[in-house]
Amino acid sequence: MIDTHLTTVHTMPKIDLHRHLEGSLRLETLLAIALEYDITLPSDDVEGLRPFVQMMPGEPRNWQQFLSKFKILRQFYRSEKIIKRVTHEVIADAAADNVKYMELRFTPQALNNLMHCNYDQVVAWVCEATETATAEYDIEVMLILSMNRHESVEIGDQVLDAAINFADRGVVGLDLAGQEDGYSALPFRSLFERAKSEGFGVTIHAGEWAGANSVREAVEALGADRIGHGVRTFEDPSLVELLAARGTVLEICPTSNVQSGVVATFPTHPLAELYQRGVRTTINTDDPLICNVTMSAEIGQVLEHTPLTIDDVKANLMTAAQAAFLPDERRAALVSQFEAWLA
Ligand code: HPA
Ligand code: ZN
Repeated sequence: MIDTHLTTVHTMPKIDLHRHLEGSLRLETLLAIALEYDITLPSDDVEGLRPFVQMMPGEPRNWQQFLSKFKILRQFYRSEKIIKRVTHEVIADAAADNVKYMELRFTPQALNNLMHCNYDQVVAWVCEATETATAEYDIEVMLILSMNRHESVEIGDQVLDAAINFADRGVVGLDLAGQEDGYSALPFRSLFERAKSEGFGVTIHAGEWAGANSVREAVEALGADRIGHGVRTFEDPSLVELLAARGTVLEICPTSNVQSGVVATFPTHPLAELYQRGVRTTINTDDPLICNVTMSAEIGQVLEHTPLTIDDVKANLMTAAQAAFLPDERRAALVSQFEAWLA
């Protein structure tokens, strides 16, 4: 890609609606935590550690490999100090990349599993660190709480309870993530009904490691406002029409899709075609550490390998502003701000 594009993309104000805290840590910080907390690592330098937490060229591309990185990362959440530090750094890194609005999601069950404290406790730490970081950097950050399909609905119910307790501290949405193949979203149906009735935005990972029917289920049965990925929507042309008609927003994470084997190559990614067929698409990072990517690099890849132009990218950013899980007035302000910035 030509350098002017790179500079334009870096300086352009951006939005990331789909970023997992647990997939966004700095490699250097992992080493520092290991040293301080006496965690034995397979390597004591950054390059040696990289393959354990990042998808590497030549590595098998499948969900087992991709999700295995999160399992390793669960070894690092050991104290209030660590959780606040990693939250602060994720926000600092996004701000340095000129992301001006981000919805950061995290899985309370991942953060508390070594500490055995309750979900409210870890959510409080993330909220506090988010408040401190957003006061320091030029970025607005809202929080989404995630639960995994392959973990129990009971865990999910407790996560929703925590979300309700922290709705006035920046928690705006609920997310269903995890192993999609073999784990239907239907057991979570009443939970997400409750989430909607409490005023939360609902986003469901679907159409990534399972097919179009999983997306249909997320939209029709769970009432998803947004779909994480949704790239396999294509397998059913009537679903493409349904999403376009309903205005369901897809949180597309192209690099993640290529690295997890959902899509074979960047040039064959369905983002451009979905967008051209009237589906509301957005471009997001998913997991900057695991995918070794930034929002700017992600957009750079889209410009280099797909037919989308810089104007199309801007249209995707406007869709992201319109799809933010913010109260109406604040969403309208975000939309106006991005209209002015991207004009
Ligand atoms: N899919 C499902 N669960 C996840 C993902 C993903 O891409 N990233 C983190 N948890
Ligand atoms: Zn995700």
